[in-house]
Parts: sequence; structure tokens; C-alpha cells
Amino acid sequence: MLRCAIVGLGRWGQLLVNSCMERGEPKGNALVFTHAVVRSAGKYDEYCSQQSLTAVTDYQRLVESHDIDAVVLATPHSQHFEQIITATAHNKHIFVEKPFTMGAENARNAAESAQNAGVIIAVGHNRRFLPALQELRAMIDAGKLGTITHMEGNFSGPFALGYESSMWRANADESPAGGMTAMGIHIVDALIYLGGPIAGVNAQSQGSVLDVDIDDTTSVLMRFENGISAYLSTLCATARQWRLQVFGTQGWAQLRDHHILDFCPVGQQEAKTTTYAPVDIERAELEAFAGACRGGKPYPVTLEEAVHGIAVQDSIIESAATPSPLYPVERQGGFHPPSRSDRPFTKK
Ligand SMILES: NC(=O)c1ccc[n+]([C@@H]2O[C@H](COP(=O)([O-])OP(=O)(O)OC[C@H]3O[C@@H](n4cnc5c(N)ncnc54)[C@H](OP(=O)(O)O)[C@@H]3O)[C@@H](O)[C@H]2O)c1
Repeated sequence: MLRCAIVGLGRWGQLLVNSCMERGEPKGNALVFTHAVVRSAGKYDEYCSQQSLTAVTDYQRLVESHDIDAVVLATPHSQHFEQIITATAHNKHIFVEKPFTMGAENARNAAESAQNAGVIIAVGHNRRFLPALQELRAMIDAGKLGTITHMEGNFSGPFALGYESSMWRANADESPAGGMTAMGIHIVDALIYLGGPIAGVNAQSQGSVLDVDIDDTTSVLMRFENGISAYLSTLCATARQWRLQVFGTQGWAQLRDHHILDFCPVGQQEAKTTTYAPVDIERAELEAFAGACRGGKPYPVTLEEAVHGIAVQDSIIESAATPSPLYPVERQGGFHPPSRSDRPFTKK
């Protein structure tokens, strides 16, 4: 059984542990969480005692020891790279939450250090484990949608409405281009899974409704290397939304939230909807990681895809910071639509 340390016991770190452990016992025989790396001793005593975790504050010392085989990183984005490098230096396997790293050069160096050390790095793109997404890919591969022409996705949520400036996520270095590192990167990974490498992007990202200094509304036009177009949008100041739609010459298919797949063939007025049973995608991704560490089936997100996803994220961030001018629309004489720049279109 793979002996893992959870690094970061915030919201997601606990969710990852809980997906594989119940009252201190592993749910299966793939992996067990034995240690937790925390910033301040004492803060998570009750939780660690419930899940039989030994809490430590010294990450370096733990990865140097023989007490664990792997680390599971659920820490702020800017910490992932250094934590990966420390782990590979001591031949520990790594499951890292998204985004893999901040910056494609770091992603490439992290991947190379794992390859040199002969350890596994698995990036937590949990949506890869959704049966509905896998079915969407199978439909594309089987030609059910015909020739694919376009894809679009939106992943949004209300999270940033509650941010305060003291929170790490409210810092633009951790959350550049608004929701990209928290949510949009999942859509990027799904697009890469469905359509292959992305050749270029054109992004716009703006913020006007939050009390903290990060963007709230980000949208990106993209072109895949194979020539098809795509766009993604990610908003962190609205209600939750997850949607991924693929268009082809024989029809379109749409993943609506995690478990609903619509398929509308050309010639039909209405889509046929299939609802999939929920699966624990966090347990599935961690068990897949453990299997890959044992030398079994490779983890489904390849290192090439993971590095490419961060290169796409970099390009989105850079493009958003230097937006290309919009092609202008000429006013036609006296034919002006009435202005809509008063509330609710501008912040109070
Ligand atoms: N795959 C998904 O769907 C998904 C969903 C949510 C999050 N995530 C990812 O999971 C990771 C953790 O996110 P989270 O939502 O769990 O964050 P969180 O609740 O804020 O937890 C962050 C953890 O990191 C620790 N930490 C270490 N250094 C820190 C610092 N300088 N500032 C603040 N915290 C620090 C915190 O320690 P303390 O406990 O001492 O504060 C806490 O344990 C991120 O990479 C995030 O993108 C993934």
C-alpha cells in the first residue's frame, strides 16, 4: 500500500484524505495517508486524530525519511514547484493538485526532475475520471460527432465573492487571470484531452465587482494545433457552472455539470440526455496515482499534457495582461442603441 503524506490540510487536503480514509482506516488497498504536513502544530490535532495522521511541520525532514512513499500536495499554487523538487530529490512520488506549477518553465523542470528520479508525478485533474467526459471522448473517437469543428467550456463559481485581501487566493500572483488557476485550468485540461495540443490563445480578463485585486471575468479564444477553434470562459463572481460542449459536422455533445451528457445529432430538434451515476473522482485519481507508482497502468494525465496545460495557462495570463485591441464597430449615423452602462452594468 502506498504510504502518503498530505501536505496542506485546508478544504481540499481534507477532502482528498476523506476520499480514501474513513476514521483512520484506508477505504481500499491502494494507498493510506499516514502523515500530514501542517504549518502550525496543534491546529489540526482533532482531524489528525480522527484520521490517524501523524502531524509534522517539517516537510523537508519528512521527505528525507523512509516513513512515506509519496506526497500529496494541496497547498497554495506558488508552493507546488519547490515542494515537487524537494520530493523528487528524495525519490518520493508526487500527487500535486492543479495547477501543476506556476509557470511552464517550472512545469518542465518539475517533470524532468521526476523523470530523472524515476518517480511518478500525477496532477489532480479530477474531471478526467468522470465517466461522462470519458464517453464524450469516446464519441469523438468513434466519429459520432463527425468532423469536429469547435469546442467551448465554462467553469465558474461564486468563490471570489467571499475573498478577503488576507487570503492567499486573493493575491493576483496566486490567481492571475481571475478564475484560471482555480477553475479554468480544468477546462484547459479537458480541452487538451479532447482536442490535443493548443497552438494559440487570445484572452481578455477584467475585474470590476470584487473587493479584492483579482479579475472576476476571463474569456479566451483558442485554436488547436489541428486547426479547430475553441473558447473558454471562467468567472469567479457568479453562480456555479460547469459546461463543456463539442461541435461536429454530425452533431454536438455537451457535458452539463459532471454527470449529464447531452447529444444532439444533425437532423434532430432535441438532444438526448444521459445521466451517469456519480463517482468519487478524488478517490479514483488517487488510486490511479497509487497504481502508477506500483508500476501498473500509467496515470491518465501524461506529463506532456500537464506541462502543456501550464504553457497554455501562461499564454492566457500573458495575453490577458496585454490584450490585443478589439476590432472596432462603427456607429452608423443616428442609429445608436440606447446605452446600458448604468447599474446593473457597473459596480455601485
Ligand atoms: N481539483 C479540484 O477540484 C480542487 C478544488 C479545490 C482546490 N484545489 C487545489 O487544492 C490546493 C489547495 O486548495 P484549498 O482550497 O485546499 O486551499 P486552502 O483551504 O486555503 O488550504 C491551503 C492549505 O495550504 C496551507 N498553506 C501553506 N502555506 C500557506 C500560505 N502561505 N498561505 C495559506 N495557506 C498555506 C494552509 O495551511 P493552514 O491550514 O495553516 O492555513 C492549508 O492547509 C490548491 O492547489 C487548489 O487549487 C483543487
